[in-house]
Formats: sequence, C-alpha cells, structure tokens
Amino acid sequence: MTERSTPPGEPVRTMFTRIAGRYDLMNSLMTGGRHHEWRRVAAREAVAAPPGAVLDLATGTADLALAVRVLDPARLVVGADFSEGMLAEGRKKLASAGERRVPLVAADAQRLPFPDRTFACVTSAFLLRNLEDLRGGLIETRRVTRPGGRIVALDIVAPTVPGWAPVFNFYFHRVVPAIGAIVAGDRSAYTYLPQSVERFVAPQALVRLMTEVGFREVRYRRLGLGTIAIHVGVA
Ligand SMILES: C[S@@+](CC[C@H](N)C(=O)[O-])C[C@H]1O[C@@H](n2cnc3c(N)ncnc32)[C@H](O)[C@@H]1O
Repeated sequence: MTERSTPPGEPVRTMFTRIAGRYDLMNSLMTGGRHHEWRRVAAREAVAAPPGAVLDLATGTADLALAVRVLDPARLVVGADFSEGMLAEGRKKLASAGERRVPLVAADAQRLPFPDRTFACVTSAFLLRNLEDLRGGLIETRRVTRPGGRIVALDIVAPTVPGWAPVFNFYFHRVVPAIGAIVAGDRSAYTYLPQSVERFVAPQALVRLMTEVGFREVRYRRLGLGTIAIHVGVA
C-alpha cells in the first residue's frame, strides 16, 4: 500500500480558504486599517518598475493588485494565488470596483505557470513567510521577472524597537488569536500568524537571500513601528 502525503503548502492553502470570508475584516481590525497604507507604499515601488505587466503573487483578496492599478491604470496586473477561496473574494472585490484588467489565476508561487521573463514586476504582500521553500519561491519569482524588472515584497517582521517588541508580542500572540476566534471563528489560523512571523527570516537575512538568488540592489524599509518590511530588488 502506498502512503499518500499531504502536498507541500496544503495546510496553508486550506487555512486561507477557511478564513477567506473574514480575511479583510480581520486585517482591518488587527491593524486599525493601516494595512491599506502599507500596500500603497509597496504599490508605489511597483509602478516605478519598467513598463510591462505586474504579477501580484499570493494576491488573496486582490488589495495590492488594486492598489497598483489605482496608481497606474495603464498597467495590466495579474493576480495569482493557490487558494480558490481567497480568489473568489478577490473576484467579488474586483467586480464591485468595476475592475476588468486584473485577471486572477490559481497558481502556486513555488511552481508558476508563466514563461521565463514574463513580468516587469512581481509583487507580494504577506506571502513570503508562508512559503514552504523560501529560497525556491524567490528563484521562481526571479525566473518570471524580466531582466531589469523588480521584485517588491511586503511582509510582517519581528520588531526590534526596544520597549515596543514586548507590547507587540503580547498583542500578536495573545490578543490577535482571541480576535481571530471571535471574528473569524478560527483561533488556529490567527495562532499560525504570529508563529509564522517568529519563524520568518530577519529583514537583513532576506536581503542576502534575495541577492543570492540573483536580485541586485536589494533594499528594504520598515513601516508600522518596525513590524512591516518592504523589500525591493532588481532582476
Ligand atoms: C496573508 S494572505 C495575503 C493576501 C494578499 N496578498 C494581501 O495583501 O492581503 C496570504 C496569501 O498567500 C497565499 N499563498 C500562500 N502560499 C502560497 C503559495 N505557495 N502559492 C500561492 N499562494 C500562496 C494564500 O492563499 C493567501 O491568499
């Protein structure tokens, strides 16, 4: 008898499909609405890429894809995500915004269904710390980015500001799972969230990794009292 193993990423995919209907509300509650401003900053970096299509990886409910289109309505933005549940929420949002130039496709960031050098920019918000194989995901991102194109990656990172880190950790590890249990009916998804941040590489280590896989001029900035990092690199 052959043993059937769970495909890599499957627990993450099913978790996002489970919480998809409450995902946006939870983001707004957890961040006091600040998450939109962080994506706007990432979108400004994206539209500074050379002309050409943008791929928003792990687009989820399509907020970053929309933020890019608002800043640069001439750009085609393709959203990709491996959770059909999140994409369904994204499609509803795009339809109610009257947005027709953001096709959403089901795809795994570790095995993208696009030819080499397709995109002028590949963005992601809150993806990288979820990847089973971070280096492999970055190599795949590099593969589909045109030479001279950009990677823009936004994620949550552990804060280093003295005095603030313990407050953040208490909020993130104790309060957020409680809000998740009440609002999304899913304590485990919002327990996974702080744990994934704890496991994630530090911003400077991510700069090194991005450089090792072939991106150059890699830099990052912190926002949200040091809890958010936006990395930018050139392919
Ligand atoms: C925290 S949500 C972020 C959604 C959106 N980018 C945003 O800004 O709100 C993480 C998303 O990453 C997707 N995801 C995680 N791992 C993935 C993978 N390997 N391939 C494609 N999507 C993935 C999940 O399905 C989920 O929609």
